[in-house]
Amino acid sequence: MARFYVTTPIYYVNDAPHIGHAYTTVTADALARWHRLLGEEVFFLTGTDEHGLKVQRAAEASGRTPREHADITSRRYREVWASLDIAYDDFIRTTEPRHYRTTEQLMQAAYDNGWIELRHYEGLYCVSCEAYYTEAELVDGGLCPIHRTPVELFQEENYFFKLSAFEDRLLEWYDRYPGAVTPEGKRNEAIGLIRGGLRDISISRTSISWGVPVPWDRAHVFYVWYDALINYATAAGYGSDPDRFARWWPAVHHLIGKDILRFHCVYWPALLMAAGIDPPARIAVHGFLLVGGEKMSKTALNQIAPGDLIPTFGVDGVRYHFLRDQAFGPDGDFSYEAMVARYNADLANNLGNLLARVSTVVERKCGGVGPAPNPASKLGASAEAVYEAAAAGWARIAPSEALEATWRLVRDANAALEAAEPWKAEPGPAVDEVLGDALEVLRIVALLASPALSRASQEIWQRIGLPGRVEDQRLPGAAAWGGYPGGLAVRRGEPLFPRIRD
Ligand code: ME8
Ligand code: MG
Repeated sequence: MARFYVTTPIYYVNDAPHIGHAYTTVTADALARWHRLLGEEVFFLTGTDEHGLKVQRAAEASGRTPREHADITSRRYREVWASLDIAYDDFIRTTEPRHYRTTEQLMQAAYDNGWIELRHYEGLYCVSCEAYYTEAELVDGGLCPIHRTPVELFQEENYFFKLSAFEDRLLEWYDRYPGAVTPEGKRNEAIGLIRGGLRDISISRTSISWGVPVPWDRAHVFYVWYDALINYATAAGYGSDPDRFARWWPAVHHLIGKDILRFHCVYWPALLMAAGIDPPARIAVHGFLLVGGEKMSKTALNQIAPGDLIPTFGVDGVRYHFLRDQAFGPDGDFSYEAMVARYNADLANNLGNLLARVSTVVERKCGGVGPAPNPASKLGASAEAVYEAAAAGWARIAPSEALEATWRLVRDANAALEAAEPWKAEPGPAVDEVLGDALEVLRIVALLASPALSRASQEIWQRIGLPGRVEDQRLPGAAAWGGYPGGLAVRRGEPLFPRIRD
């Protein structure tokens, strides 16, 4: 059976969840749902990143221990994910014993292979990034290029990972697997970083204790990023369940934002190679959601919590916005106005109206019993083309294209209804046929849109009289034209997507 392992970054517990975190996580959830529909065995992992100085300081500032602080924020992430119908299979916390064990074993393997050694280090450090910068990388006379805040001078005895030795191997890997890092522009960025020359990197600290101890030298803990990356291997069973690890690795799909490209597309594959493990099959990098053209940040006070949007747009409306309006790859502006416009156009008008119209006319002209579709309907050809395009979009990790394709079918069905005007016609075979076709479109759209519309898809399914759960259907068979059997009770209900006044 085909397998699909998809991950999100594990989010820092120093911060509250915002729409940027939700964007990656909703995308991963939708992909997981799509692959489950395909009948694949799916493993969807998310979690929280709980070590490091940033967390230690955030905890101190709120008068808590790092552990208490992590417990509170990690729970907050799980609550937000529940509120967005995120159906992960595993939620990892880097403070769990299983993660300590895997980190120790993977790092020990790299150490035993001779890729890690002790050195003295001095450098400019951004605590918010948890990363060292060179003078040349700083902006505006000494500020972090990401946060535009001052960096700090750190001096330490550190264990170093001999990253510089992996330049050729990494470039070979990029060569051999052209689809491993997507989109193309981000792949080129990663290759550019490698071609620009790699320096060895410091992977341990003695100055802090909030981290995973270095197994061969317990005065050190691993610097947060080098335990964090390993979460993906922990959850797949590295070091604890070799059979399980062999099943899920290296066929893993990492979804990440562009801010952590260097760690995932350069350091992580090299570290895996150092430990004798294959690099991930796929790293899909997306751009940033910008608010008023700016990056969201605590200091700019422009962070939007997903929970602020749900009362207006509903869970489906929020998920649909991320997936349909924010193309995976480039940066995108988050705007309330655009969100309202899209919701009203696609959900309230197109899909919502189709359902409302069809259920009303079936009640009036067919005694509330849904007729079967015409096997030779023109909409059947449209549905077939739409399925191909949607499947290709999900496979490319381009949900906006998949959904754009899906809505073509909704528009075609609305156009067919407007042309036939069954609400004006006498009951009979002609009316039955056009309504049967429209019901079949609703069935197929409920199925194809279900990775985005976790709730409305099931509601549509039930209102048109279909038994069971959308998520138990299997593609591609279930998307084939003609699946709506007819003879089912169709129920009229409240507007599925009440129009939002703009
Ligand atoms: O970097 N637009 O965690 P983090 C889109 N713990 N996505 C955004 C975003 C935005 N404006 N802001 C954040 C860390 N994200 C590490 C990761 S992984 C082994 C360790 C999303 O809490 C995006 O996925 O800072 C980005 O990569 C991630 O949140 C960073 O989350
Ligand atoms: Mg960050």
